[in-house]
Amino acid sequence: MTSTHDIFYKLKLLSKKWNNYFEIYDNILAPYKGKKPKMLEIGVAHGGSLEMWIKYFEEEVQLYAVDINKEFLDYKFDIPVDYACVDQSSGEHWDAYLNGKPKFDIIIDDGSHDSEHQIFTLLTLFPKLNDGGIYVVEDTHTSYWPEWGGGLGKQGTFMEFAKGLLDFIHAPHIRQTAPPGLVESFKNLKSITFHNSVVVFEKGPTRPSTEAVSTAKQNPNFSWG
Ligand SMILES: C[S@@+](CC[C@H](N)C(=O)[O-])C[C@H]1O[C@@H](n2cnc3c(N)ncnc32)[C@H](O)[C@@H]1O
Repeated sequence: MTSTHDIFYKLKLLSKKWNNYFEIYDNILAPYKGKKPKMLEIGVAHGGSLEMWIKYFEEEVQLYAVDINKEFLDYKFDIPVDYACVDQSSGEHWDAYLNGKPKFDIIIDDGSHDSEHQIFTLLTLFPKLNDGGIYVVEDTHTSYWPEWGGGLGKQGTFMEFAKGLLDFIHAPHIRQTAPPGLVESFKNLKSITFHNSVVVFEKGPTRPSTEAVSTAKQNPNFSWG
């Protein structure tokens, strides 16, 4: 199967990625091949990644792309990309943009890389992800860079926020009162995978959290403790 790495180095349009991203994308995108996923990317720049997705999916993808900078929205391919000018930090922009849009199967945040924006965008868009979908945040190393307001373990960074969401995978087991907004936003959060500079959130369907018991006979001397 063609890899994003091989496609990337033959792109006509400019893009810039860290070298470890290709293996991640090959693994997470493969299940959507041939299924015409609806994919939204935040951050168009010179259009290189959009060209990569189109080529990776051999045009079997419904591509949506947003950017704050109107100048970047002029890239035209043979296959249409649904472009819009959206500031990812604006609730009003998202409300207007999402009105009438379908839910997405794949969302990639490669926009401002500002922690506050990454958190806000995840909170806004995770409910707009289909069950069985993935939400990818690129360049999360900004959470560690002081010049981006980051630092190891620093509250308010995207990485600290993402670590906190690990709890919501266990929502049915939480017996204390959890923040209702977060419980609602992250309903069906199935897994979070942390890579160097990339975080991948997977959304359900989750199996009902009921205990499975094998049908084997129990040794009467054994206790579950
Ligand atoms: C790293 S570039 C995207 C690169 C592209 N995805 C690629 O790989 O070829 C980041 C883009 O995010 C856009 N951006 C910056 N701040 C934004 C914001 N607040 N809302 C939406 N887009 C933003 C920039 O204009 C820029 O085009």
